[in-house]
Amino acid sequence: MADSWEQLKADCAGCRRCALHEHRHNLVFGDGSEHARVLFVGEGPGEQEDLQGRPFVGPAGKLLDDMLEMIDLDRSRVYIANIVKCRPPRNRDPLFTEQDCCAEWLQRQIALLNPEIIVCLGRIAAAALIRENFRITREHGQWYNVEGRAVTAIYHPSALLRDVSKRPETFEDLRGIRQQIRAICPEVYQ
Ligand code: URA
Repeated sequence: MADSWEQLKADCAGCRRCALHEHRHNLVFGDGSEHARVLFVGEGPGEQEDLQGRPFVGPAGKLLDDMLEMIDLDRSRVYIANIVKCRPPRNRDPLFTEQDCCAEWLQRQIALLNPEIIVCLGRIAAAALIRENFRITREHGQWYNVEGRAVTAIYHPSALLRDVSKRPETFEDLRGIRQQIRAICPEVYQ
């Protein structure tokens, strides 16, 4: 039977495939428009996301909202998801085994959404979705064709909070994303 958002949410809801479920308050499925042409993918929920059950609602999320606004977007025009749906302890990087356990959920989200453009937020998402040895410092802002989709990576908003010197490069990358959206799916701005 064809997949649906309802089916996917139901399947994902009680997930216990890895140990991350043991300490979660909420599984963070994703947020935004289920008809979006542009998908943003982060790493995994932090403390606030775990408590509220929504992606990017803590300090990094506030910055992500500002970044979206800079290119005339907001959450209602995009979809936001994460590589892992449950918070890793103390916000450590998700283990490969945890990412593997969680991969089906994001793959099904991508298949249902069928986005033209995917923006990876940070190295972990880029390594999972573009290439395992992706070098965020060298390759951010470049575009890759991954299974027919235009995929890029930018610095994670948390990295931009820690190191403001990365912000000018990210502004450039964001402008590139706006250009790409205008070229590939201009309806996003209509
Ligand atoms: N960082 C992420 O990668 N994802 C979130 O949802 C929040 C912070």
